[in-house]
Amino acid sequence: MEMDLQGKHILLGVTGSIAAYKSVLILRHLVQAGAQVTVVMTSSAQQFIAPLTFQILSHRPVFTSLFDPSDEIRHLTLAEQVDLILIAPATANIIGKIANGIADDLLTTLAVASSSPIVIAPAMDGDMWTHPVLQRNLSVLDGLGVHVVSPEEGPLASGKEGMGRLALESRIVAAVLSRLRKREDLKGETVLVTAGPTREPIDPVRHITNRSSGKMGYALARAAQGRGARVILISGPTHLPAPPKVERISVQSAEEMREAVLRCWSEVTVLMMAAAVADYRPRRRSDQKLKKDHEPLFLELEPTPDILSEVRSRRGHRILIGFAAETEDVLSRARSKLEQKGLDLIVANDVTQEGAGFDLDTNIVTIIDANGEAMALPKLSKAEVAERILDRIKELKSRLGTGSRPIH
Ligand code: C5P
Repeated sequence: MEMDLQGKHILLGVTGSIAAYKSVLILRHLVQAGAQVTVVMTSSAQQFIAPLTFQILSHRPVFTSLFDPSDEIRHLTLAEQVDLILIAPATANIIGKIANGIADDLLTTLAVASSSPIVIAPAMDGDMWTHPVLQRNLSVLDGLGVHVVSPEEGPLASGKEGMGRLALESRIVAAVLSRLRKREDLKGETVLVTAGPTREPIDPVRHITNRSSGKMGYALARAAQGRGARVILISGPTHLPAPPKVERISVQSAEEMREAVLRCWSEVTVLMMAAAVADYRPRRRSDQKLKKDHEPLFLELEPTPDILSEVRSRRGHRILIGFAAETEDVLSRARSKLEQKGLDLIVANDVTQEGAGFDLDTNIVTIIDANGEAMALPKLSKAEVAERILDRIKELKSRLGTGSRPIH
């Protein structure tokens, strides 16, 4: 195995899931890849597996307690030393604690004290995995830039079938590698991401909008920033916090989004139009609130400007990525949009599929390139989908041999 993790210090947090025994294999992979690994176990993890196993395989002491008289500030020294914190398996309990800033043992204190990247691989019963409180906590972590390696479907310890099995060790190690690899591969690029819905006003209190949450676009913005790009995020109304170090411009309508895109255009090298821009808007906006009477009301709608089609004529060497959220004939519709709008890539998803589309933390997408070739990805977290899209952009950039400077 390649020594990809040579010189890296990883903190492996093990929590109290039956999958804790699989952490031994993860530890072995990490050590074989050259990493120095310090294992920290929660007290319930020790009910499943003994610290000695990890100690022997890591050739290092295993830490289990925040309170050791010989080392009063272990959480601070460890927190500073490590390059990455991997929590595998991560129980619903640890996810809830970290998402809410609870630091009541060594592992949670480390997670809250460290500025190193965190990767978590959840493992739990299917009902816990789908529980709204767990999903809410995961989306909090996702919003903070924690990389979640989503679990897999299959037989669970309870005897049931469902989502919740710890991801394969190879996926977890790959996530660690990709998070750690010094990926400044988008340095020099100015990536413009649009995200969220638009609102098309009817009158001062009403508007037409759609169900987009903005999560896919925000994940793209965060991932591109993490890979060294300057990122401008033009966002329709969402409840999401602006990702750190991303320049966010908030807009409401398709027209405002168009103007914002055009204002930034000269600086942009990659455009990712992840926003669900309204296709139609009321032809007239009433200055006063429309009054109710008992007659039917007809709203006349007109098409909004198509932003992608508009920037196409002044694209220069820029890479243009579109998104197609569909409910039928997904791939053929996406292919024709790719062609019509002259895109380099289109990311298609069937929003009727479970685990894909609006307001979820996962997505199931197919990335189609200008040759019409389709790459179908499995169900992944939106953060993982974002990384895959950026990988494709990187590939395109090297294939096209285009510089990062836009041509005006
Ligand atoms: O044509 P349709 O709206 O289905 O295409 C979707 C893609 O086009 C998305 O990337 C979306 O952001 C972009 N779009 C646009 N301007 C519009 C509508 C959609 O750039 N007015």
